[in-house]
Amino acid sequence: MSTTLGAFIAGGVAACGAVTVTHGFETVKIRLQLQGELKAKGEAPRMYKGVLHGVGVITKNEGIKGLLRGLSCAYIYQMTLNGCRLGFYEPLRQSITTLIFRDPTVQSFGVNIFSGAASGILGAMAGSPFFLVKTRLQSYSPFLPVGTQHQYKNAWDGMTQIYKGEGVKGLYRGVGPAMIRTGFGSSVQLPTYFFAKRRLVKHLGMEEGPALHLASSTASGFVVCCVMHPPDTVMSRMYNQTGNLYNSAFDCLTRTVKTEGVFSLYKGFTAHLARILPHTILTLSLAEQTNKWMRKVEDRILSKDVEEKL
Ligand SMILES: *[C@@H]1O[C@H](CO)[C@@H](O)[C@H](O)[C@H]1NC(C)=O
Repeated sequence: MSTTLGAFIAGGVAACGAVTVTHGFETVKIRLQLQGELKAKGEAPRMYKGVLHGVGVITKNEGIKGLLRGLSCAYIYQMTLNGCRLGFYEPLRQSITTLIFRDPTVQSFGVNIFSGAASGILGAMAGSPFFLVKTRLQSYSPFLPVGTQHQYKNAWDGMTQIYKGEGVKGLYRGVGPAMIRTGFGSSVQLPTYFFAKRRLVKHLGMEEGPALHLASSTASGFVVCCVMHPPDTVMSRMYNQTGNLYNSAFDCLTRTVKTEGVFSLYKGFTAHLARILPHTILTLSLAEQTNKWMRKVEDRILSKDVEEKL
């Protein structure tokens, strides 16, 4: 019980640290994904020409503040998502493995994938309203606007405006693709991380430590980005719409592919990679550290408990 809480706090703190460093790329990614929506190639102006150009243009026109729009929402979202993810993963995995193999120490790739996805999907569902407001805050630009320009003063103002206008349903706009996206991402993040780690130890003789954490999380981050990006693009577009431009995530997917081509689903991929790679590296490496730290604290508290009882 106390270890689950420990993992929850450790995961959340780790994720917020990671988010602070990478939020600017996320802002660029969202604007790249929304740019030229439902327009054939060449028909729409390309205001943001790529990740570096995007960072440059936003910093020049809106300052660092422009890159960091929606950061507080990102924190709340990360606490919710990664808390759920890292917190539920091990307990879920262990219970399922115990059920199937009668032994919690068995490493089953299928069970790992399932547990990762299930805990991620739970987190995405819980955190979707924050991600929605975050996306809208990030696409707002007084200089080079893409997407619907929602005039939210801050995260709280955004939430209340949406709630007043559209109710709970409005807050949960786009929750479907958000769950799919995160399910895809989570289903590969931890399994590829542990998989890469085991391989690196076995074949390259690497030892437990920062270098191993760095290498394994890089591999994991790349795979995560590849599978997560297409549903992420659909999600950004569902979050942008206020009316009923699309009647479902599937509608959004098919119309995007039809008008902009299949590769449009990978719009903003480099920006996403620029965010995901350091994010995954920092989250997983920091989680290793915070988990270790948390275990130490827990050990101390627990042993103190025991001492007091004696
Ligand atoms: C965003 O949503 C609105 C509808 O609310 C739509 O008109 C617009 O085309 C969408 N995309 C962009 C890039 O503006």
